[in-house]
Amino acid sequence: MMKRLVVVLSLCLAPSAFAAEDVTEVWKAKCKSCHGDDGKAKTKMGQKESIVDMSQAAWQTSVSDAEIRQVISDGSTRNTKMKAYKEKLTAAQIDSLVGYVRTLKAK
Ligand code: HEC
Repeated sequence: MMKRLVVVLSLCLAPSAFAAEDVTEVWKAKCKSCHGDDGKAKTKMGQKESIVDMSQAAWQTSVSDAEIRQVISDGSTRNTKMKAYKEKLTAAQIDSLVGYVRTLKAK
């Protein structure tokens, strides 16, 4: 009986721990090549396409979570190099990425 309770509890607690790990992995696998580890876009593509430095406080305040989510889901209307990810990622992954983008803000 006790054992079963422990199993149930650990199943409940596990997903949040996974999510945090998961979003970093998703960023590394799908976003880093252009936006860089730190979101500053100090990459070849970043330079070529003048991708914004997401660590800038000014940029962070200029975009809403909804706008970030939209660009990730549907791609950018200004630059087609920023592709739509709604077919490649789940809605939950996209939500986590919005949160991740917020963590890139320079402290
Ligand atoms: C092939 C290169 C490339 C990859 C990979 C890429 N992006 Fe982008 N991204 C761009 C470019 C180029 C822009 C600039 C688009 C613009 O000016 O509107 C951009 C813009 C953005 C913006 C909006 C910035 C703004 O100015 O408002 C967000 C948010 C973003 N990307 C998130 C992501 C996330 C999250 C991923 C991974 C799932 C990702 N990008 C993967 C190239 C890329």
